[in-house]
Amino acid sequence: MCPPEHFAVEYAINPWMEPGAPVDVELAVKQWTRLRETLQGLGHTVHVLPAQPALPDMVYAANGAFSVEGVVYGARFRYPQRSAEADRHRAFYEAFHDAGGGWRFVAPTAVNEGEGDFAYLPAAYGGLVLAGYGFRTEPAAHAEAQEALGRPVISLRLVDPAFYHLDTALAALDDHNITYYPEAFSPSSQRVLAQLFPEAVLADRADAEAFGLNLVSDGRHVILNTEATAMADKVRAAGYAPVHVELTELKRGGGSVKCAVAELRP
Ligand code: ARG
Repeated sequence: MCPPEHFAVEYAINPWMEPGAPVDVELAVKQWTRLRETLQGLGHTVHVLPAQPALPDMVYAANGAFSVEGVVYGARFRYPQRSAEADRHRAFYEAFHDAGGGWRFVAPTAVNEGEGDFAYLPAAYGGLVLAGYGFRTEPAAHAEAQEALGRPVISLRLVDPAFYHLDTALAALDDHNITYYPEAFSPSSQRVLAQLFPEAVLADRADAEAFGLNLVSDGRHVILNTEATAMADKVRAAGYAPVHVELTELKRGGGSVKCAVAELRP
């Protein structure tokens, strides 16, 4: 996670961002801290990447890389405003490696925004990667990720600009099941998802707009934005324990819980 100490909405690269709208940095840091403490309180270890003054979107740490069982596929951002973030993440993984963490970093050539557009289901079909394209990540990155990670990558086409990253429209609930908002995907991609995940928890547009799909799950606890009350009911009915965190400020940049957390899969 990376604290929103330099968070701002200075440019618009997704439909949620309104440059000029005031952002309460102090509140953003407070809400982010609460999210970090919530994860720690559930027994998870959180590593913190230092914030950088000229990188206001760096709080969305999920976009910096995608790791699967010791291999880290690096990010290459779509827009120049965020491109310098990639090296910060790379340095984190390389330092981790040198400290005995054992990561192998694979530098990308194709544009991809890390866990923003990649999800991993370790127990689905022996280990499956789901990957989004259409707004940020290029399809070429899906093939590159498959080569880097040695897991099948399923390409899914995103069609609604409001849900421009895979993690705004789909989330892993545990090691084998997902939740998603079907209409965020092309009809063919909806068919692929229905075939692979017949037990998926289906969300609707209101859930997606409340950033209810932008969740982090440890397989039991599902951490999600406070606004997403209907989504919390759906995950509870499916047997998970929803945990709410208020992230109103991060929503101004077009993100929520999942965007703020890069999951480490050593
Ligand atoms: N303002 C950021 C952008 O448009 C938000 C990124 C949200 N992150 C995510 N994982 N969906 O790039």
